[in-house]
Order: sequence, then structure tokens, then C-alpha cells
Amino acid sequence: MKVLFAASEAVPFAKTGGLADVIGSLPKELVKQGLDVRVILPKYEDIPAQFTQQMETVATFTLQMGWRQLYCGILKLVHEGITFYFVDNETYYRRRGCYGYGDDAERFAFFCRAVLDALPHIEFIPDVIHCHDWQAGMIPVLYRAHFSWQKQYENIKTVMTVHNLKYQGVFGKEQFKDYFALGDEHLGGYALELFGGASFMKGGLLYSDIITTVSPTYAQEIQTPYFGEYLDGLLRSQQHRLYGIVNGIDYEEFDPMTDPRLEVNYRDSVVKKQQNKLKLQERLGLPVNKDIPLIALVTRLVDQKGLSLVDRVIENLLSLEAQWVILGTGDHRYEQLFRWAADRYPDKLSANITFNEPLARQIYASSDLFLMPSEFEPCGIGQLIAMRYRSIPIVRETGGLKDTVTSFNESTGEGTGFSFTHYNAHDMLYTVERAVKLYNDPEAWKTIWANIKKKDFSWRKSAQQYAALYSKLQ
Ligand code: GLC
Repeated sequence: MKVLFAASEAVPFAKTGGLADVIGSLPKELVKQGLDVRVILPKYEDIPAQFTQQMETVATFTLQMGWRQLYCGILKLVHEGITFYFVDNETYYRRRGCYGYGDDAERFAFFCRAVLDALPHIEFIPDVIHCHDWQAGMIPVLYRAHFSWQKQYENIKTVMTVHNLKYQGVFGKEQFKDYFALGDEHLGGYALELFGGASFMKGGLLYSDIITTVSPTYAQEIQTPYFGEYLDGLLRSQQHRLYGIVNGIDYEEFDPMTDPRLEVNYRDSVVKKQQNKLKLQERLGLPVNKDIPLIALVTRLVDQKGLSLVDRVIENLLSLEAQWVILGTGDHRYEQLFRWAADRYPDKLSANITFNEPLARQIYASSDLFLMPSEFEPCGIGQLIAMRYRSIPIVRETGGLKDTVTSFNESTGEGTGFSFTHYNAHDMLYTVERAVKLYNDPEAWKTIWANIKKKDFSWRKSAQQYAALYSKLQ
């Protein structure tokens, strides 16, 4: 089975969010299970030189995008056993970062077009093209409109995975006509039309053979108006081919037993974990005390992550017998909130408004609790890493958080964390209070650790589910 992943980010080349973690790790597990999985992404300026230096050009050709004749180069790099292809065109990709430019529609239209045009040139005709998020969403549309009837493209199937329905790639219809050479029949309300414009994401949902999203609960949620981002009706009508498969994490990459960034490596030792905490407290200027619970927030500082709840009750949270460590960047509003809190409560909170992977790992390793009160969360990766590093998650019951964390039940001894149902600041506060209280009950804490230990959040099972879906398409 040959599968080509098309995506706009992948660790270790380019990352703005969890999508990059998935694209950087799921192919490895699928390859381990015997599939030939390769990945294609844009060749951005920011890809570290250590990788670009090793890339080899495997094809150059001209492609037709509307009336334009455009240069397209394809470079190749085998990284940790996985073949990565990079789409090169400096007009589009020789810029900082991945997104946020006025011509993003054209940049990713080019990417979608290039993926399909490249196949004969790289001599890899996949059985399945697996498209991720809106940036790859027009591949299924282009395939149906312009490629499926060509001999060398026959019988390719497409899968569209939604990592976050909020980002839909909506642009003016005229641009779609131009870049993709589409007629009006593709641009009406039952096709790509959305909010008066047209949408890459909607294209992917409608024209792919199978739709997946990154947890079973999110697959249900997006069929309702609250989470559906105006596409819930469409998704309800397509539920027979909509699947939820929960993300995993790379168990070799995230392993407190071998992680070189930690002060002390450990697996299930409370004492060794505490040694990490003592070191981190010292480093961040918090009072050094092994007995006080350390609560972490490692996240993009945006509304989705539930930070308005934290804002609402921040004084109450900071009056608890606990310390807080924040790591992340994002909206000015939240960056300022945590800077203010650190200034006012220097003994209680450390605000690290930056992106820093080694520090992130030390925080996972040092913290006792990990807060993720998201408003919505397609899957969430932070809570999975936290459990792997034995930092107990406190989550809101939504999307993948609901599917991966179960609330501790004192009478049955079941549960891997703490959770609350409603998007409500006082429900969150109560849940944090409960967790802090239980921290002082070593027996309960041991039980939760033991429950977490029994769980498997590696990619193994989820990769099997993807492989089964691919087979179903053949
Ligand atoms: C997006 C979602 C996140 C998910 C990730 C990878 O970033 O917001 O919940 O874990 O994609 O699928």
C-alpha cells in the first residue's frame, strides 16, 4: 500500500502547531506496519540548513496554474527512514514562517496543484493521497476535476483529515476559478461556496473519499452547530464516511527515561521526578519546595485553549497552595495576563512567554499537574505528553481531551486525571482545587499514576485504524 501525506507542516522541518507533530510521527508507525508512506510539504525558507543541505533535487518541471506557467522543483530527503518531498518555488515559499501572507490562497493552490503534477515526475503513484487540513484541501477537488481521467492517475483515492475545523481557507470565488480552472458547477452552495467565498477545507470534505478527524468525540462534535463552524450540516450528511481516530505521540521521542533535556531521567519514580521539579523551581526563581504541587500550562496562548477561564478566576487560582509555570506565546491579551500575574505573584507563578522545546520538556517532567481547559480540542497532544511524563492532566471534557483522559473517581479508584464538563471558570476552579487537595493524598496519587501507566498513547493502535481505512478504499 502506497500512501502520500500532503501537509503544510512536519516536525522537524516546519512547525506552528500539533499538525506538525502528527505528520512527523504517524508515517513512522505506518512504515513500521509495512506501508510505504511518504510525505510532501512546501520547502519553506525556515527549514533548518542541516536538512536543506542534504536535500537532493529529484524533479523540475513547469506547471500550469490557471493562465500561469510556473516553475516547480521537487527535492527529496530521507529522514529517520521516511521519504520527504519538498515543493520548491521561491516566489511562494522563500519567506519567514508558514502562513499569514496576503497571497496564502495562491501559495497553497500552488502546493495542491504541485502535489498532483509531481507524481509521475517522482515516480511515486500512491494508492491514497492523505490530505491534512485546509492547505491540502483542494487536492481531492483538483484530482476529480482534472486528473482522475488520466491513465497514470487512475484509481487514486483521497482521504481528508481535519485537525482543526476552525481554519477553513476561505477566499474569493474568483481566485478559485483562476487558480484551479474550475467552472461554476464547482462553486455553488452544494460545492465549494462558503460565506460568499469558497473554501479549501470544504472542498476537501466534499471531494475526498473518506473524511477523518483526530478524535471520535470531535468527529461527533463537528456535526453540531456549536463546533461545526457552519459545516455541521455538510458533515452530518457525510457521517457515513466520517471517522474519528485519536492521535498518538512518538513514544521514543517523548520518553522521560531517555529525554536528554531532563535533569534526571525517570519513569515511575516520584523521587526522581521531584528532583526535576527542584531544579526547575530554582531555575525559574520559584520557592524551592518539593511538597508544593506544580501546575503547568504549555500551550499556544489563544482562545481555543480555554485561557479566558483562567483569566476569569486567576486570583483564586493563585491563592491555592500551588505553584504555576506557563510556557507559550500567542495573543497579546494572554501574554499580558501571565506577565502581570508573574509580576504580582512572583512566588506563585513563572511566566515564560516564548517557545522553547527543551524548557517545555523540563516542565512536563517537573510538573505534578497539567492544565488544559480548552474551549474545543480536536485531539490535543499536550495531555498525552503530560501523562507520558507523569504530570496529571486537568482537562475540559471536549474532543480528544474527553477521549484520552478519564476523571479520577475516588470510590472506584479509576481515572487518569481530572475533568469538568461545562466551559465555566468556576467548574474549572473547583476541579483544580480538587486536584490540589488530592495531591496531598499519596495513595490516591499513586493510584492515578498506576492507571496512567496502563494506558498506551503511542501511535500503534491509531496507525492500525488508518491502515484499515486505506484498505477499505481499495
Ligand atoms: C490541531 C488541533 C489539536 C490537534 C492537532 C493535531 O492543532 O487544535 O487539537 O491535536 O491539530 O491533530
